[in-house]
Amino acid sequence: MDGTRPVAAEQGGAVRAAAGPPVAVPVRVPASRYTSAAFAALEAERMWPRVWQVACTLDHVRQPGDFYEYRCGRLSVIIVRADDGALRAFQNVCMHRGNTICEGSGSGLSELRCPYHRWAWDLTGALREVPSRKGFGVLDNDELALVAVQVDAWGPLVFVNLDTSAAPLHQYLEGVPSDSAWAHLDEFQCSFTTLSQVASNWKVVADGFSETYHVQGIHPEMLASIDDVNTEQHVWDHHSVSHQRYGIASPRLRDRSDQAVWDSFIVTQGERMGPAFKSVCPVPALAEGETIRDVIAERIRQHQATRGVDLAGYDTDGLLRLSQYNLFPNTTVLVWGDMVNVLTSRPGPSPDEAELTMFLLYRAPDGAPPAKPFDVALPAEASLGVVIDQDLGMLKRFQRGLHQPGFTHLTLSGEEIRIINMQRVLETYVGAGVESGAETR
Ligand code: FES
Ligand SMILES: [Fe+2]
Repeated sequence: MDGTRPVAAEQGGAVRAAAGPPVAVPVRVPASRYTSAAFAALEAERMWPRVWQVACTLDHVRQPGDFYEYRCGRLSVIIVRADDGALRAFQNVCMHRGNTICEGSGSGLSELRCPYHRWAWDLTGALREVPSRKGFGVLDNDELALVAVQVDAWGPLVFVNLDTSAAPLHQYLEGVPSDSAWAHLDEFQCSFTTLSQVASNWKVVADGFSETYHVQGIHPEMLASIDDVNTEQHVWDHHSVSHQRYGIASPRLRDRSDQAVWDSFIVTQGERMGPAFKSVCPVPALAEGETIRDVIAERIRQHQATRGVDLAGYDTDGLLRLSQYNLFPNTTVLVWGDMVNVLTSRPGPSPDEAELTMFLLYRAPDGAPPAKPFDVALPAEASLGVVIDQDLGMLKRFQRGLHQPGFTHLTLSGEEIRIINMQRVLETYVGAGVESGAETR
């Protein structure tokens, strides 16, 4: 913002670290976790096949015959809506000689048929046809059923877990569903998803959406409409959340005027108030007792009303307090009253590459017909908006730094507690240690 720049945090001497009390000593995480092919192989062997992960949304697989292929590294899972209405998922492998059965997503599937020799399974995974079957002698259909994968949904998000003995999703999600119950996530529909290739480790991407310490570093336009200092964070076992107020200026700023808040909100999130708020304009007059935050919330309600969505039940805080859930291992769910964004990062072909999928969801108007989301693979130069572009611009610089031989550890603050927690949970799967303090243990 013109005329403003970050200064030392000031709030009557009562600045609270975003994570609560600071840690006594920094937490140190080995840099090799982000660069080592051996560590990536351990993750692939011990972690990815054992965790619940967001694969798609219910809108992708709402009708019988809808299917969606989810890939994570080398893992491939096919999710189908069967004729009986049940959601099912299978490892995406033909039990004949191991070909991949399905690719991509679509509708109208009545069977799962391998294109090579045309073995076919029904949508429950039961083998139902083997061309020239006699040549195999006695085939046991049960032995050759597709390999089932656990599948379940939280709100509009479909999760899969290849570990059929893993605890069910509702248990895995710990306190997250009850913490977010106020938002009625079932009411959200996915409009579109974007897929981006990022030249960094998947954890660099996940970390980038697990703390707000960097807002003062790379999102200067945002600072006047976010309280990045007084953020509550809560850590469950696997997962964590921050609750952060928008529509209010950072305590780091000198200019915390209504005009500064208004301009900042328009530049970074103006579309939430509708297409009229693409560029900065004079701040509206406030009624008595009203704050600029109330005005922004009311504009959001008015915009959603034009879509047929009634947000009268959501107060200013419900619309302008972001609940940012970090689901282990790789998903960030951003919940506002009017909008939900989900970001998932997955390993690419090497530890230096990742795939980032963003899901954009809006509250569906009453009686809205089901619609499939648009899934868009983005070219490298595509813009995802001013804030995400700033995030991705920084994340792609990391990998070269992480490889420098003199950089042995990340040094993390209590403000980065959600990254610390993710690393600690990761080591329970992979079996490596997070070192604390000045000395490596
Ligand atoms: S590999 Fe699938 S039918 Fe032969
Ligand atoms: Fe960011």
